[in-house]
Amino acid sequence: MALVLGIETSCDETAVGIVDGRKLLANVISSSVEQHARFGGVVPEVASRAHLEAMPQVIKQALKDSGVTLKDIDAIAVTAGPGLIGALLVGVSSASALSLALDKPLYGVNHLSAHIAVDQLDNDKKVAPAIALLVSGGHSSILKVSNLATDVQVMGSTIDDAAGEAFDKIARIMGLGFPGGPLIDKESRNANPAFVDFPRGLTSPADLAKHQYNFSFSGLKTAVARFIEQTPGYKKADVAASFQEAVVDVLLRKSLAACKETGIDNLVIAGGVAANSRLRQLAQQRCEQAKINLSIPPIGLCTDNGAMVAALGSMAITEGVKPSQIGIGADSAASIAQVIW
Ligand code: KG4
Ligand code: ZN
Repeated sequence: MALVLGIETSCDETAVGIVDGRKLLANVISSSVEQHARFGGVVPEVASRAHLEAMPQVIKQALKDSGVTLKDIDAIAVTAGPGLIGALLVGVSSASALSLALDKPLYGVNHLSAHIAVDQLDNDKKVAPAIALLVSGGHSSILKVSNLATDVQVMGSTIDDAAGEAFDKIARIMGLGFPGGPLIDKESRNANPAFVDFPRGLTSPADLAKHQYNFSFSGLKTAVARFIEQTPGYKKADVAASFQEAVVDVLLRKSLAACKETGIDNLVIAGGVAANSRLRQLAQQRCEQAKINLSIPPIGLCTDNGAMVAALGSMAITEGVKPSQIGIGADSAASIAQVIW
């Protein structure tokens, strides 16, 4: 069993997690979200500075929570991409310094795969082979996962906005605040998801022929904006619920189609949007009907955290993947195909 410390700084969370094999020992998160809220989105320079300021304390707290010292740590894992370049570099530099000072291996890991890897903590589930629906603020993809540490293939991705980005934009248009996903989720509870039948992007037969597993949320965003403009006194909760239903419906339709086509009967849903209560509920219903084994990490581990990075580092060690070179950089646009640097 390896004791792995994972560092995550790809966006606005400075996060450190510690795992012992698949056991979660600590998960400390310091978020700069409040510094970005008035801009309606994350300001990269502000995020980078916040990471610098928070990092030492977050590492100390994670060690304290797990009851281990730096000397006990067997390996350091860090998100090397994708994400905001300045923010990523704070994490990669911190991790490289720790690796050098402690003389312990460094694993630069992919943020997207890490979102999926967190599903393996504190259980003995076998993740692969699986279809993964990865839905976050920056990405929305359907992936074929043969081995999470070594073999992940993209079946489809969004051709415009990411699912979380669509939640954030609609919340802004509705004046709900930032980040929008959790606010729309809350607003939609007990509301009518069939109030407006908003469009389901890339689901017509003609679109499916070209974009079977791709997503598009920009048409939906325009439809919601137009509805709001043309409907004074509209009920926020019902519009939020109808928007959410349109997103969730498309995500699940395409994920289940991917399971069917590949004959893979495991579906993992991961990333910040996997915290959405309607997505979790409808996924359970539809997977039961389709006899697909569904796995979604606990809500608290869906949005960005350090435990997921440590989990993927730990998995890489188990799979015998070689450590990264000291001196690795960060890649803001890293593809999912690059799991370990
Ligand atoms: O994975 P994540 O923490 O960061 C990225 O890697 O992007 O995802 C953040 C995204 C944001 O767009 C946020 O609005 C969305 O996840 N999100 C949600 C919920 N919680 C977070 N979207 C819908 N429902 C939620 N409950
Ligand atoms: Zn993320």
